[in-house]
Amino acid sequence: MSVHASQKRISIPDLRAMKGPGKIVMLTAYTKPMAQLLDPHCDVLLVGDSLGMVVYGLDNTLNVSLDTMIAHTQAVMRGSTHACVLLDMPFGSYQASQEQAYRSCARAMAESGAQGLKLEGGAELVDTVEFLVARGIPVMPHIGLMPQRVNEMGGFKAQGREDDAARKWTSIAKRFEDVGAFSVLIEGTIEPVARAVAESVSVPVIGIGASPACDGQVLVTEDILGLFPDFTPKFAKRYVEVGEMVSQAAAAYASEVRAGKFPSLEHCFGVKK
Ligand code: KIV
Repeated sequence: MSVHASQKRISIPDLRAMKGPGKIVMLTAYTKPMAQLLDPHCDVLLVGDSLGMVVYGLDNTLNVSLDTMIAHTQAVMRGSTHACVLLDMPFGSYQASQEQAYRSCARAMAESGAQGLKLEGGAELVDTVEFLVARGIPVMPHIGLMPQRVNEMGGFKAQGREDDAARKWTSIAKRFEDVGAFSVLIEGTIEPVARAVAESVSVPVIGIGASPACDGQVLVTEDILGLFPDFTPKFAKRYVEVGEMVSQAAAAYASEVRAGKFPSLEHCFGVKK
């Protein structure tokens, strides 16, 4: 897009217009340094509630607070100038009522600086999305595998295997489009169903564990960096082994400190040459 040349931050209308042949590139970011590294290459930086698992070592995303999401989004905003930044609304911050959703989302937008919000949900979320959009909050609904429903699903399992899944999810995606969602994200859903969703709406559909037919792709950055050496989800691809590099660097440092090789005088202050 031309916004790359001007370095103007990609806006929600820019993203909304990116349905079509070009793909939307999205990665998660939780900190300023990572945002600085990813920003030139991405259209969207998502401050995902996956940070509960990735940064804080939790078993799932349920125990992430809105305060935590806002603090990390502020850091990502400070580390980016180009990508559109989206904040992922955490479990319990928007499901109780439209009023609760508005209060939490308005606070998230005002305090974090994010340009839009992602909310997990299906048919039960449509009226809330309409309520929020009508009040100036750009929303990307997250359908298919919803990690905030891990207990109900009995684990992180691919969705869409039931007979009427394509009809169900395309109808929900269309309802989100009708009430003003600027995009839809679909996670962990069998390919034919994800493809049907991407082809059924005129807003961009972002996939993760979904389909090449989606208009964009998101992954958890740590998954593509090899920072979880013991587990890479089937839908992710490791592009580099940063975990191994960190381990090698720590081993080299430890060995030099123990051998008295580091620090040498060149790393000290007040040493005359
Ligand atoms: O929390 C997150 O990082 C997400 C992405 C995996 C889509 O929701």
